[in-house]
Amino acid sequence: MATGRKSMHGCFCSDDMKSTCLPASLRLLLLLLLDMSCVAPLESNKPNFVLIMVDDMGIGDLGCYGNTTLRTPNIDQFAREGVKLTQHIAAASLCTPSRAAFLTGRYPIRSGVAGVARPGVFIFNAASGGLPSHETTFAKIAKQQGYETALIGKWHLGLNCEHGDDHCHHPSVHGFNYFFGIPLTNLRECQPGHGAVINFFKYLPYKTLAIVLVTVAVLHYCSILTIPRWLVWSLLCLSLVFTALLGGFMMMVPYMNCVLMRDHGIVEQQFTAENLTQAMTREAVDFIESNSAKPFLLFLSFLQVHTAVFASPAFRGTSQHGIYGDAVHEVDWSVGQMVNTLERLKLRENTLVYLTSDQGAHLEEAQHGSNGIYKAGKATNWEGGIRVPGILSWPGQIPAGVQIDEPTSNMDLFPTVVHLSGASLPEDREIDGHDLMDLLQRRVERSNHEFLFHYCGAYLNAVRWHPRNSSSVWKAFYFTQNFDSENATTCVHTQICFCTPQFVTYHNPPLLFDLRKDPSETTPLTPDTEPAFESIVSVMAEAVERHRRSVKPVESQLSVWNLSWKPWLQPCCSTLGQLCQCQH
Ligand SMILES: *[C@@H]1O[C@H](CO)[C@@H](O)[C@H](O)[C@H]1NC(C)=O
Repeated sequence: MATGRKSMHGCFCSDDMKSTCLPASLRLLLLLLLDMSCVAPLESNKPNFVLIMVDDMGIGDLGCYGNTTLRTPNIDQFAREGVKLTQHIAAASLCTPSRAAFLTGRYPIRSGVAGVARPGVFIFNAASGGLPSHETTFAKIAKQQGYETALIGKWHLGLNCEHGDDHCHHPSVHGFNYFFGIPLTNLRECQPGHGAVINFFKYLPYKTLAIVLVTVAVLHYCSILTIPRWLVWSLLCLSLVFTALLGGFMMMVPYMNCVLMRDHGIVEQQFTAENLTQAMTREAVDFIESNSAKPFLLFLSFLQVHTAVFASPAFRGTSQHGIYGDAVHEVDWSVGQMVNTLERLKLRENTLVYLTSDQGAHLEEAQHGSNGIYKAGKATNWEGGIRVPGILSWPGQIPAGVQIDEPTSNMDLFPTVVHLSGASLPEDREIDGHDLMDLLQRRVERSNHEFLFHYCGAYLNAVRWHPRNSSSVWKAFYFTQNFDSENATTCVHTQICFCTPQFVTYHNPPLLFDLRKDPSETTPLTPDTEPAFESIVSVMAEAVERHRRSVKPVESQLSVWNLSWKPWLQPCCSTLGQLCQCQH
């Protein structure tokens, strides 16, 4: 009888049935049977997930990580109510690959979201690369487990493959039932007066052009070379047309790239950033409210505090650190709104809330955050680029006020969410993250990350080793990026540090640090200062070899072709004649 009913109603464990249809003894028997047959956890036991990612926020920007002048009371409070990770490592120090790793629990190289080209992120909506649809995100699995899922905010993992609206890389393909946000990222171009990331004129070889022109003019003047008039005029015309095309394209960039979408439709093109955090916060609160009766997964992915930095009027001028600090204050407020909403709906004890940043602060920007004591920042694998805030809170399940210094990764959220949602990990692929619950619930002292590999694009840059029998954390760099000068930790000349061979210095033997003693990576060890140098370096080299063998070659989503702008992939809410502009 029980099985007959079960097939009609699924796992029927509803209260009304238990109390009304059956006598006590039968009820007990039934419950026992159900206990054995309901293999999947009951719906009501599935925790909700609110996963919050801030963009480019440094670990040194938060009060709970030691900042004394920025005010982040909501995040600090939420950290006091949960676990604070102090060695939480982003799998990449650029948005696109870091987010791919976060969603899939895998090194970005495995999904092809790692490239040998510059830049290592998408800079056009009309690019053909993206997170491949055969990758499995935690949202896809949660959705299969009956979760209502939403992405609110930034995606930055591609949009189209072959047509302007095939949406083959859209968040909906990756398990997000609802999407309100931007498919790309917040670029300088998205706000008037903040300059441009896509600036062709910066890269024109002006000097060479000028030298050629002057030489030709002198030769012509001295009658050594006669240039026909028509050639001069046609060259002049050609360069004018070329300049106009480039200039016109750059003027179109804000419309082409700064697109706000709701599900598959365009809401604003070009979006107004100023009130977007407010709008996103409202959307997130609405999503939680309307799904409070089911299990849900919300990925709240802030556009802040990426350049061009913005804050809504209510937060402007509230910090001592200019518009950057104001933006952090606004993010803190928004996080507070999430926690308050969960409390108001009595969902706090059934919701795992996570906060992180996709990478360290972008130190080349005029307005940038703080990476605390850690060296360098975004786009590098120095600790300042990859050591990010990691806070998890789930009252009743995760202890409050605990700090964990073990190495953890943003890839760990994938297995953690998958297991808590009642599913098991996909077995047909390598998963690099480890379920965090044993560590968070203090059942184990050590994290499972004996080794972590740090990629710069598709290049293996460094490796971290936390030996099982020691508290040391060794980190070896096989190459380092060339900074502006000997004492600098930035690449201002290129706005961001690159990983391609002409921008780096190789090290053999590798540069070795013990992060436990030298967290700021100031003094590389040598065989003189570290007697075990040779054996440490060779253990790490073996681990690298093993890791390399586990990486199967796949198509690069960040190849020059997949990165470049393709007119036929351009999302556009109106006809091109109307320059793709809309405000709905
Ligand atoms: C706090 O954050 C601001 C803004 O990022 C930064 O300028 C300041 O140095 C930080 N303070 C500390 C103590 O880290």
